[in-house]
Parts: sequence; structure tokens; C-alpha cells
Amino acid sequence: MREELEQIKREAAEGIRAAGGVKELEELRVALLGKKGRLTGILKGMGRLSAEERPALGQLANEARDFIEGGISAAKAELSRKATLARLAAETIDVTLPGKARARGHYHPMTTAMEELKRIFLGMRYEIAEGPDIETEYYNFDALNIPSDHPARDEQDTFYVEGKDADGGGFALRTATSPVQARTMERGRLPIRMICPGQVFRADEVDATHSPVFHQMEGLVVDKGVTFGDLKGALMVFAREFLGEDTRARFRPHYFPFTEPSAEMDVSCFKCGGAGCNVCKGEGWIEVLGCGMVHPRVLEMRGIDPAVYSGFAFGMGLERIAMLRGAISDMRLLFENDVNFLNQF
Ligand code: DAH
Repeated sequence: MREELEQIKREAAEGIRAAGGVKELEELRVALLGKKGRLTGILKGMGRLSAEERPALGQLANEARDFIEGGISAAKAELSRKATLARLAAETIDVTLPGKARARGHYHPMTTAMEELKRIFLGMRYEIAEGPDIETEYYNFDALNIPSDHPARDEQDTFYVEGKDADGGGFALRTATSPVQARTMERGRLPIRMICPGQVFRADEVDATHSPVFHQMEGLVVDKGVTFGDLKGALMVFAREFLGEDTRARFRPHYFPFTEPSAEMDVSCFKCGGAGCNVCKGEGWIEVLGCGMVHPRVLEMRGIDPAVYSGFAFGMGLERIAMLRGAISDMRLLFENDVNFLNQF
């Protein structure tokens, strides 16, 4: 019996060492210490021993039981300690690692140009006006004193839209922001100081300087005693704020049906300052917009007396302006939205 107890202890020690998990340890415990366990069987057989043998063997058997129980519970504790350590290791966060930088968005160069223009003119107390993209032929042409045989009316230049308005006139996608002038004058609230940025449409093929959809910004001022000097003053503020303090401007006589007199405004090249370079194509000057004094007929058609009121107007292409500012050589880059291109701005 003595030997058997020693044997059980050895086997128990072996089993504990070999056990890979709590389940195996539990099985070992049942096999040795359970109701039908081997050690339990020995303890039960104690009664058969003689009175001399019993105390010593009883003590040995108890020791064996304590040894096994202690071993198993120590092994369980060790397993759970290891499991905790493993989980902590797996969940460790290295707070010293550099963070992942999030890519930040930014404005498209067209948006930047448009916002800057709005800021400049709102600063001169202009208001922002809007008009429909699908315009009546009347507002797009007639109200702007554009004669019915004007080439701009040709199907080759203008996208016409099906349908007739209340007066039997046709519709077109607006070819300029200028019809908003007529709509604003019609509201009968004077004086007027407005800008109108928006999309316009022309039947042009796409190339480096053309697109069937592009943007313009119109300006209109109508009040008593408005002169060409006021026009030049307002546009000089725009040129200096938008292109730089040293910008100079010149006004070349031109023709538009809705203004008289009319002019085109050139600004001194903001890159070379006027000496001539690749941006201004050696000219020293860059054309930026059309402008003029609102034609008396245009005022009259809107019920404004040209003997009392006068006004000036201007219109510029925003892609062109954004391209000049960003030294962008191809208009398509503004529409293609290639992120590698846009990230430069
Ligand atoms: N409507 C002209 C265009 O599309 C631009 C323009 C020129 C607008 C002179 C004006 C102006 O208001 O006065 O080319």
C-alpha cells in the first residue's frame, strides 16, 4: 500500500506536468480523488488495516491527497495566470507609435476663386443674384438687345430646349450670366449692386480653353449718376485684391449689344509684371473681362428711365480667371478632378 501511494503520487505529478488545460487537470482530479478515484479507494480500504498500521498509512494517504490537491490547484492557478498574461500581451497598445494622419480635404481651385470674388464684391456691398440655368430666349437674347440675326443665336452656339413660354417664345440653356441683369432690373428695386456667379452653356467642343459647361460671374450696378469712372474704380479694386496690389489695368474699346460704350479689361501680367512671359504670351497684358455702360435700350425695356438712371455691367469667365491665378494651362484639368492635380492647390 505504501508503494501504491508512492506510485499514485508519481503518476499525479507526471499528469499535472503534462496537463495542457483546466479540463485535463479536472479529469486527473476525478480519476484520483473522485468518488471512484484510486486514492479514494485506498482511503476506503483503511478500515481493513491493523490498528498498528493504520495511523502511519493513514497519514501517508492524507499526505498523498494533500499533495495531489495542492498540485492540481497550483497548476490551475498557473494556467490562468498564463492565460491572463497572454491576453494582456495580445491587447497591448503601443502608445508611442506615431498616429495615422488623416488626409484632409481642401477646396477646388474653382471654388477658391469663386469665394474670393464673392468676398471682394460683397465687401463693396454688392448682393448675390441668381437666375435659372434654363432661360427663355427672351431674357437670354432679346432683353439684352441681342438682335435676332446675331450669330450667338445660332444653333451651332446655343443649346436650345424644347417648349414655349407663355408668350410663345423658346427656351435655351443660358449662354451667359447676363440674362440675370434683365431679371434683376425687372424687380424694380433701385439702386442695384449685384454679382451673379453661375453656370453657363455653349455648344463648344472640349479643348484646352473651351467646355460646353463653364462658369461666369456677372456684375451690375444701376443708380443715379453712375459713370464709366465708377466702373473702372470697382474693377480696379477687384483686380488689385484678386491679383495683387501692383496690378495695373487698361480698358480697350469693344462691342457688346447690351452695353454702350463697351470695353474689354486687360490686367498687367501678374507673373512678369508686364515685361512679357509665357503666361501673358509675351504681351505683358492679360484680358480678363468684358464690361461697359448699360445700354439705354436695356434699361428702357425694364422700365428704368435712362434719363434718370445709368449703370455699368461686367462679365468674366471664372475658369479663365482660376486658370490665370493658378497658372493652369488646360481647362480640362479643372473638370477631371484628378486628385494628384488638385492636391497642388
Ligand atoms: N456676356 C458676355 C459674354 O458672355 C460677357 C459680358 C461682357 C458681360 C460685357 C457683361 C458685359 O455684363 O457688360 O461674353
